Amino acid sequence: MASNELPAGGLHDGLAQATADAGVDAIVIACAGRTFIAGADITEFGKPPAEPSLHAVLALIEGSGKPVVAAIHGTALGGGLEVTLACHYRVGVKGARFGLPEVKLGLLPGAGGTQRLPRVVGVQKALQMIVSGDPIGADEALTHGLLDEIVEGDLAAAGVAFAEKVLAEKRPLKKIRDLTDKIAAVRSKPEIFAEFRKSVARQTRGFRAPENCIKAVEAAVNLPFDEGLKRERELFVELLNSPESKAQRYFFFAEREAAKIPDVPADTAAREIRTAAVIGAGTMGGGIAMNFANAGIPVTVVEVAQDALDRGLGIVRKNYEATASRGRLTAADVEKRMGLIRGTTDWKAIADADIVIEAVFEEMPIKKEVFAKLDAIAKPDAVLATNTSTLDVNEIAGATKRPESVIGTHFFSPANVMRLLENVRGAKSSKTTVATVMALGRRIGKVPVLVGVCYGFVGNRMLHQRGIQADKLVLEGALPHQVDKVLTDFGFPMGPFAMGDLAGLDVGWRIRKGRGVKAPVADRICELGRFGQKTGAGYFRYEKGDRTPIPDPDVEKIITEVASEQGIVRRHIGDDEIRERLLYPMVNEGAKILEEKIAIRASDIDVIWVYGYGWPVYRGGPMFWADSIGLRALRDRMLQFKASTGDAFWTPAPLLDRLATEGKGFVGG
Ligand SMILES: NC(=O)c1ccc[n+]([C@@H]2O[C@H](COP(=O)([O-])OP(=O)(O)OC[C@H]3O[C@@H](n4cnc5c(N)ncnc54)[C@H](O)[C@@H]3O)[C@@H](O)[C@H]2O)c1
Repeated sequence: MASNELPAGGLHDGLAQATADAGVDAIVIACAGRTFIAGADITEFGKPPAEPSLHAVLALIEGSGKPVVAAIHGTALGGGLEVTLACHYRVGVKGARFGLPEVKLGLLPGAGGTQRLPRVVGVQKALQMIVSGDPIGADEALTHGLLDEIVEGDLAAAGVAFAEKVLAEKRPLKKIRDLTDKIAAVRSKPEIFAEFRKSVARQTRGFRAPENCIKAVEAAVNLPFDEGLKRERELFVELLNSPESKAQRYFFFAEREAAKIPDVPADTAAREIRTAAVIGAGTMGGGIAMNFANAGIPVTVVEVAQDALDRGLGIVRKNYEATASRGRLTAADVEKRMGLIRGTTDWKAIADADIVIEAVFEEMPIKKEVFAKLDAIAKPDAVLATNTSTLDVNEIAGATKRPESVIGTHFFSPANVMRLLENVRGAKSSKTTVATVMALGRRIGKVPVLVGVCYGFVGNRMLHQRGIQADKLVLEGALPHQVDKVLTDFGFPMGPFAMGDLAGLDVGWRIRKGRGVKAPVADRICELGRFGQKTGAGYFRYEKGDRTPIPDPDVEKIITEVASEQGIVRRHIGDDEIRERLLYPMVNEGAKILEEKIAIRASDIDVIWVYGYGWPVYRGGPMFWADSIGLRALRDRMLQFKASTGDAFWTPAPLLDRLATEGKGFVGG
């Protein structure tokens, strides 16, 4: 029996003993507890390796003169799977899962995984497993030769029975390092690698690890085993020291850290959520209801009128059917989920809900009216949540006699897809209320991050700063496609102008008109009926049925006209200036957010930006990224902009200024 953590000194000693013991004919490696070895302790990366090295243990297993059988349950991941690949045979239970997830930390499997896996499952399957990092189940593992047998009953006993069979049948010791048939088949077909690279180009853009994973598998095909191992090591070390992997490993911990609320310990009692209700079946309400149904939680959706309800639930059904048509849900799943969503115009239907999430129009009087009603109808211990993106959660809570039960749950659009959930803690939200929405977020597959009340909360507040500069940049000389390209080159899925076109420019236009605010370029674009993708034109134009933004001379004309009306002499603006002007103000706002304690920690801000706004994870998040540039350099650049424009916008936040002067960073101190 081995412990399910690596490095496995115990495994080494046990093996050495069993190998030396003349009374032992075969060795079975199985783990106690819930799982087989589920990977290395990632806090160990970057430190000197503990002895004995995993390589030495694997060499001992593979070189054993007695058959070694891995008996697997739970998950054999990373180094765990690499241990099984050094064994001569592998058996596992039906529920076992097998994977090499190192790529998700910007690394590659560095203990022979890239050399042995293709020799067992073939090059294409190995590429897919190593480059995606996603695990496969036992049936698939059996089909591809990764498992020799699926076993039932007591695992250790089943492993021993299999080993006895190997001995009785005098089966040879199958050393994966010596298998060549599956890799030899690919030697004459190098196009397999070119095709694979092409197939993953989109989703791996900007990441460094996937390419090194592919190179390592190429080495498995083209080099003798021991040289392949050396090449794997070189490629691994290159990744270990890369900024991309450092950012991804930082982010791995940042995400877990976000679950911790200093004054709401993990054992704080949360309310159990058995049933839920959503008020409003619009864009957000429908998506939020889907989250509950997907998690098997019955949800009641309340609307003002039957037609709005029918429209909203019709869109929910269409969404599910689209997923089913792509083969990712069965027709029965669609009906099951729709069966969990009950629409009504009768408010009394919410009386039993454990949580009610309001997603009605973004207007304070309406929100207050809704919360007064919820206060009257909802059961006393229900959590009352608002999905507002800009309104004061404390004021909304004030419309009830139970502000301790009120909290913000800010979902992102599309609410059934986006992983981020900004939970907004009101001044009076109780610890139980906080604990409930944090636990609920995890249960419905979100990444919940707790923030405080302020305009725009964390994400949109920082986004607003970027938007201000994007608008200025186009007036001063850049064009929307140039601004957007700087951000897509940086790693964002899209830039601010394409994002505006996707969301619909009419939304902001209506809000501006209501408030008497002007945005000359955007207003003129909207006056032409150009509302973005939905009208085939906005900041860009779009071909029918295609979402690719195409630069439009008509928009350039509007921009140059507005610039000349404002007396702005347009000039060439380089990409570096664009990037700095878009991103530094976000970092500065992040510093203010930290000072005001709206976010608990800098890494929470990074989690919000990666999961809510497409900040590339291989750059860690805005605060980690700022540290990697150096806060002194960033602060000084802001001061240069301030000096050249005279604009107080560029005043560094006191926290940024102090950390810059002290030579410190946001995340590492
Ligand atoms: N759309 C987004 O991207 C987004 C993102 C995050 C948060 N939000 C917030 O979510 C909320 C809803 O936004 P949306 O985009 O879904 O709006 P929407 O206009 O699509 O939907 C609002 C729905 O609420 C219904 N409604 C209005 N008053 C009601 C009442 N008194 N009782 C019951 N139903 C009522 C309307 O009929 C409509 O169907 C807003 O607070 C908005 O700020 C929106």
